[in-house]
Amino acid sequence: MLLLDERRGVAPEADPAFLSDVLAGLAQGQKAIPARWFYDHRGSELFEEITRLPEYYPTRVETGLLEKHCPEVGRIVGAGRAVVEFGSGSSLKTPHLLRAIFPAAYVPIDISGDFLRESVADLGQAFPALPVFPVEANFMGPVRLPAEIAGAAKLGFFPGSTIGNLVPRSAVDLLRGMIDTLGIGAMLLIGMDRVKDEDVLVPAYDDAAGVTAAFDLNLLHRINRELGGDVPIDLFRHQARWNDLWARIEMHLVATADLAFTIAGHRFVMKAGETIHTENSHKYDPRSARQLLAAGGWSPIREWPDADGMFSLFLAEARPEPMAP
Ligand code: AVJ
Repeated sequence: MLLLDERRGVAPEADPAFLSDVLAGLAQGQKAIPARWFYDHRGSELFEEITRLPEYYPTRVETGLLEKHCPEVGRIVGAGRAVVEFGSGSSLKTPHLLRAIFPAAYVPIDISGDFLRESVADLGQAFPALPVFPVEANFMGPVRLPAEIAGAAKLGFFPGSTIGNLVPRSAVDLLRGMIDTLGIGAMLLIGMDRVKDEDVLVPAYDDAAGVTAAFDLNLLHRINRELGGDVPIDLFRHQARWNDLWARIEMHLVATADLAFTIAGHRFVMKAGETIHTENSHKYDPRSARQLLAAGGWSPIREWPDADGMFSLFLAEARPEPMAP
């Protein structure tokens, strides 16, 4: 149980995990806050805005790939699968898949009940005959699927290159966890953003209109509002950088002056130039993508890249593990 003292100034409805992640992350040498805390109501709105930016190609390119290739996905995976989407959000890409593969059911998993209710309502209109079983859960942990789909073959769906948010060891944990959830014999359709020129990657995460900067800085607004912080937001600026060693875009909030602030009674100081690391977005080339899938227990079956090599869809299968040489 949290001591009252540790919740000084904290809104009663604030998620205790948000408070503990922020306090632990800011106590580190390199300050860091997990990217999943971006997505409060405003953050989710800003993310939707990001997906429509000219510089942010992933959503556009992946949606094009789904439109083009889902009929073939359907031919490979066959009719009658239960589609289980991890982090369904507003489920904007899902109709392309559901239209093409004749699923037995749709199971959106999301941590936000609001998003789940919205997408269930929207999909109910578009697919009135499709049984939908929403699951409100954090898919980073074990997920118990609804009993109604126990007997159905499963197709996991993990679009958006969300896997890229995770450092490789956590990505592998998640992929293995998906097999625990879906079972051997399941298939997985996953989108991964590819390694490409820094001149394309950096603007995708630092757009001219400043929407991504607002998305990044919104985390500080959320801390001040929900955790009763006094972070001087005006003294921070958004930065996107390419880390070649880890093949990832990093987002940071850079302190532009020596500063100090207090969150729930805990004081933090930062030097000018010091940063809070707020997001990783790992990029994969075709081989490293397949290796990641295999390390997570998924045998790659097919890859569909776009013509410009920006983004790829992968289909993989969780096979019983034979003896390896
Ligand atoms: C939703 C995690 C895939 O990393 O590209 C977009 C999030 N952050 N712009 C990404 C994001 C800044 C996005 N993912």
